[in-house]
Amino acid sequence: MSVSRPAAVIVLAAGEGTRMKSRIPKVLHEICGRAMLGHVLAASDELGPERTVVVVGHGRERVGAYVKEAAPEVSTAVQAEQNGTGHAVRVAVEELRDQGASLSGTVVLAYGDTPLLRGATLSGLVEAHEAAGNAVTVLSAEVPDPAGYGRVVRDADGVFTEIVEHADATEEQRAVDEINSGMYAFDGALLAEVVHRLSTDNAKGEEYITDAVAILRGDGHRVGAAPAADWVEIQGVNDRAQLAEARRLLNDRLLGDLMRAGATVVDPASTWVDVQVELGRDVVVEPQVRLRGSTRVGEGAQVGPGTTLTDTLVGEEAVVRETYAERAEIGPGATVGPFAYLRPGAVLRESAKAGTFVEVKNSTVGPGSKVPHLTYVGDADIGEGVNVGASSVFVNYDGVDKHRTTIGDHARTGSDNMFVAPVEVGPGAYTGAGTVVREDVPPGALAVSAGAQRNIDGWVQRKRPGTAAAEAAERALRDAEIRDEGAGKGE
Ligand code: UD1
Ligand code: CA
Repeated sequence: MSVSRPAAVIVLAAGEGTRMKSRIPKVLHEICGRAMLGHVLAASDELGPERTVVVVGHGRERVGAYVKEAAPEVSTAVQAEQNGTGHAVRVAVEELRDQGASLSGTVVLAYGDTPLLRGATLSGLVEAHEAAGNAVTVLSAEVPDPAGYGRVVRDADGVFTEIVEHADATEEQRAVDEINSGMYAFDGALLAEVVHRLSTDNAKGEEYITDAVAILRGDGHRVGAAPAADWVEIQGVNDRAQLAEARRLLNDRLLGDLMRAGATVVDPASTWVDVQVELGRDVVVEPQVRLRGSTRVGEGAQVGPGTTLTDTLVGEEAVVRETYAERAEIGPGATVGPFAYLRPGAVLRESAKAGTFVEVKNSTVGPGSKVPHLTYVGDADIGEGVNVGASSVFVNYDGVDKHRTTIGDHARTGSDNMFVAPVEVGPGAYTGAGTVVREDVPPGALAVSAGAQRNIDGWVQRKRPGTAAAEAAERALRDAEIRDEGAGKGE
């Protein structure tokens, strides 16, 4: 397929999107990790256009800021009042002229609220347009319910003559189910000229870009309608129900691609992925999983059930169950969860473990090291082959500053330890259960901090007489006495 590089892509995103009932401009609503406008820009970017202009209006500060951040090479043009799609295109053409752009060649027009649009569809449109030598080619689609869309009107010989908006259409025209998708390829020079000739003589009193078809045809130019392969792709989003539907469809498409590339997704209906997510071969994704941002999962790893990973790397053969992780790194063969929370900067090296009710933040857990149960690891560097006892806290915060704890290779720390940072446990050191580690522990030393245990006999019977505890104690003591007597008789 040979397609020229378009002179420009114009994306319209100035409308209010009233039906979204939102403080957020419509085109900034997100699906699968990207704003709707971002999806359209990603698709049009595949054409490698010389220039791209987004027309902004409602919420222009936010939309403009988004464009600057997400696609810095794209410029914006402000349409102060929304006088229709034709007026919006005129604003874009004027911006391109101000930039000194040459519009000879193809100019592609798309709307910012069609997030399912694919680059291949746009290049197919450009190809059909250029092969036919058209002044304008409209991407059309046959849809189950054409209400609301502009209709593709053809004459008795089936020749495309014009687009008529729903509001302006006759009953006969409304019966047509071939609609205008809102994506077009134009001859740039003709577009620059025709945008000055659009009238407002229609039901909405707006300048319609769709009128360009009839005008160019009237001038004796060729116009065409190229049907989209998949109408689903051109669906516009106007309200939250359509937003959810588009998200579902895009998610299905992404999961389909991932499964065809060799990942198992046990329950696609409860698995949600963002566009940038990558899964290696033989990855198994169990039900109720969300993989967000730039999360990547290595070959043979198992993720889920019940897991959310954001911008997280999972190594080969790792197992991550019932886990919430953000900007974390899980090494090959590592195991996480069930019920673990990995916060930004949590790094588990090869075959490490963060078990049940374990939270790790800004810390490294070395190769083969284990943090199995009920523990908070904050700002720590844990070496290789370490075992951290159950129910420990890395006390990293003194109320003002955060401090680090270091645990050397092959150290064994007892249960219920507090590591009061900054502090260091040397390689091969041990700590006793219940130790509050306030001072560095030398390599190979055993640290204990609790005093000797003291038992005050009979305290419960004296201070809590008549309680179940006191009765249990008395019974046990009596039984022991009887046993002792019995043992005495036998002698
Ligand atoms: C438009 C088409 C219709 C097509 C449908 C496909 C026109 C006149 N009609 O109708 O033929 O079937 O899309 O979804 O083009 N916008 C601006 N400035 C404006 C007006 C709109 O930037 O002054 C932007 C909107 O933000 C939106 C896009 O243009 O992204 C389309 O506008 P919208 O009002 O949704 O057009 P439709 O009535 O859906
Ligand atoms: Ca629309």
